[in-house]
Amino acid sequence: MAEPKKLYIKTYGCQMNVYDSERMAEAMGGAGYTEVTRPEDADMILLNTCHIREKAAEKVYSELGRFRDLKEARPDLKIGVAGCVAQAEGAEIMRRQPLVDLVVGPQSYHRLPEMEAKVRAGGTALDTDFPEEDKFEKLARRPKAKRGPTAFLTVQEGCDKFCAFCVVPYTRGAEVSRPAARIIDEAKDLVERGVREITLLGQNVNAYHGTGPKGEDWTLARLIWALNEVDGLERIRFTTSHPNDMGEDLIEAHGACAKLMPYLHLPVQSGSDRILKRMNRSHTAEAYIRLIERIRAARPDLLLSGDFIVGFPEETEEDFQATLDLIEAVRYGQAYSFKYSTRPGTPAAERAQVDAKAASERLQRLQALLARQQREIQAEMVGRDVEVLFERAGRQPGQMVGKSQYLHAVHCLAPDAEIGDIARVRITGTAPNSLAGTLL
Ligand code: SAH
Ligand code: SF4
Ligand code: F3S
Repeated sequence: MAEPKKLYIKTYGCQMNVYDSERMAEAMGGAGYTEVTRPEDADMILLNTCHIREKAAEKVYSELGRFRDLKEARPDLKIGVAGCVAQAEGAEIMRRQPLVDLVVGPQSYHRLPEMEAKVRAGGTALDTDFPEEDKFEKLARRPKAKRGPTAFLTVQEGCDKFCAFCVVPYTRGAEVSRPAARIIDEAKDLVERGVREITLLGQNVNAYHGTGPKGEDWTLARLIWALNEVDGLERIRFTTSHPNDMGEDLIEAHGACAKLMPYLHLPVQSGSDRILKRMNRSHTAEAYIRLIERIRAARPDLLLSGDFIVGFPEETEEDFQATLDLIEAVRYGQAYSFKYSTRPGTPAAERAQVDAKAASERLQRLQALLARQQREIQAEMVGRDVEVLFERAGRQPGQMVGKSQYLHAVHCLAPDAEIGDIARVRITGTAPNSLAGTLL
């Protein structure tokens, strides 16, 4: 038998890219590739890229430049660019970096094996279509290999919201939901392979409207209730949600569905109504706060996470203060915050930009507030009992590390426990990014 060819994949960006990289590796497995962890060992290098901010996109070119020596030493090494930079820049990538043999967008990677054959034969391959066929239907079933206790599962892709700063509607296309039966099958498959927690993914996951098994329209809540019935699956999460798609049934599920974890990532971006309007977010700060109140009424111990952009065009000190006020009102256990990055082709790119120094200074103040809230909420966990799903062994002998239902990393001594076990743990202390506990 021929020696298997070796594939090295590097993933940037969001969890959807992590999921896509797994599926690409599986698709290439069918074409005779096994995955390796170092680019030096590879016959093919694939960068799965992110276009969300300028820095993310530029990183791709500096990374590609680093492969020059490898390619000179081994001219049969093939280099591919996948993901959102591939979709946004297409053939331009090969012009700017001639080392690249293959460019494939996020909606066409089921065609990778054919594209690989083409580049092996000495050509180049480019595919940034939004094809009619569903890539998930075309991809081979996932192989039966054993895997860790947590997994991502993409249920929805694309975005119709067109926030004024964001490239996603252009790189990922319109909102599309996968049929419920296929998702449930894939979830069962993952559980058979050792998975106990599944995070459902979508750029707007709560906008999920998939076809149910009898042809009816299923919401995300309906899908979560169906997954709640899957034996062996212990935990369900989902990300990322949009405030405008937070349906009543999903709010109720947070209070009633046993396997749905009390954690919600619900980005708001800004606390200023003027800026929210200019961002095309189509909700006010007040509406967001009321929404959080309703969700917390259903699930009082919910831990909230969010995304914030500072220095959006025309943001004043007063607008920024409104964002700080919103954060104070909500209290986030976790959050991501970014300085606005101009993305060519998006409406906000044409507007008056905020002074870079002022934006950096605001980001620091915002992050200090978010860090304080995160610390306080962690400190409030001390003395409480949580359920921890062990994901890996810790550094000390007998130590295990896992996540609580609130997605806090927790470490404790559990010499008899195995990866994949769920244990009750009493929290005894906090560290900067984790909690310490003792097994009950
Ligand atoms: N669909 C999700 C977010 C997808 S992008 C949502 O609607 O919330 C992830 C995060 O990146 C966004 O929430 C936003 O905070 C940030 N982001 C997107 N475009 C950006 C830009 N041009 N500059 C800075 N941050 C940006
Ligand atoms: Fe981007 Fe807005 Fe869509 Fe989120 S909802 S992916 S921020 S356009
Ligand atoms: Fe980046 Fe594309 Fe995800 S731009 S954040 S990889 S959808």
